[in-house]
Amino acid sequence: MIEKISVLSGQDKEGKAEGYQQIDIYAGEIVAVVGATGSGKTRLISDIEQYAFGETPTKRKILINNLSASEYYELNNQRQFVGQVTQNMNFVMDVKVGDFLTMHAESRGMYNARSIIKKVLEAANNLAGEPFDEEDDLTSLSGGQSRALMIADVALISDVGIVLMDEIENAGIDRIKAFNLLTSKGKISITSTHDPLMALMANRRIVMSGGGIKSVLWTNETERSWLSQMLLYDKKLQKLRDIIRKGGQIP
Ligand SMILES: Nc1ncnc2c1ncn2[C@@H]1O[C@H](COP(=O)(O)OP(=O)(O)O)[C@@H](O)[C@H]1O
Ligand SMILES: [Mg+2]
Repeated sequence: MIEKISVLSGQDKEGKAEGYQQIDIYAGEIVAVVGATGSGKTRLISDIEQYAFGETPTKRKILINNLSASEYYELNNQRQFVGQVTQNMNFVMDVKVGDFLTMHAESRGMYNARSIIKKVLEAANNLAGEPFDEEDDLTSLSGGQSRALMIADVALISDVGIVLMDEIENAGIDRIKAFNLLTSKGKISITSTHDPLMALMANRRIVMSGGGIKSVLWTNETERSWLSQMLLYDKKLQKLRDIIRKGGQIP
């Protein structure tokens, strides 16, 4: 069980030490990563994804339950515990959606593969704009459909302890639903984002600048009450956007 991951400080792009010692993130927590383009958000996500141990340009170290990744592997005999979703992932495998999901579910030792696949497809279709089903070829899916399927797969089949998301608001899917699906069930979720709603849906946010971690802000009460209003308006805006996109007119 992953109880905690820690990010031990390194250096920014100029080689200056980052202004913090260590950030501990516990199971069940949602953390956002914010900052201008080029500020180092993706680099931080990648450091975590590859369990950096001083060898990346940032010189950061990542600990899992206070252990290095190799110590953790040895102790738990478990290799795959990070799932990542980015804005431009696509499938390259030439198989049908249903066959892919069956293979994956069976490789994870799931015996009721059929019912899991139904759930994954349902969840994926709930995220994607255009519907698809298990008879479709993986390679024929649109970008949004591919990402929707990956997200549902990470959430329901891979069942990893750490979920990393890199600007999924640009992935052509319902970002709020995706965020909720991926952040459920006691996972550690870390998401880089330019979207204020997703940033405020996190418990706290890491602020990046010049390749370094500048501060960590906890979402406060005022922000939380803004968030509920913003979510309402976002829903309304989505509806209007949809009408216009489909060539209609707002009544
Ligand atoms: N601490 C650092 N030291 C050296 N290079 C860095 C550091 N942080 C980020 N970079 C590099 O700077 C560039 C922009 O960072 P990136 O993480 O892609 O920014 P963002 O995702 O916020 O747009 C990338 O090439 C990245 O590898
Ligand atoms: Mg980036």
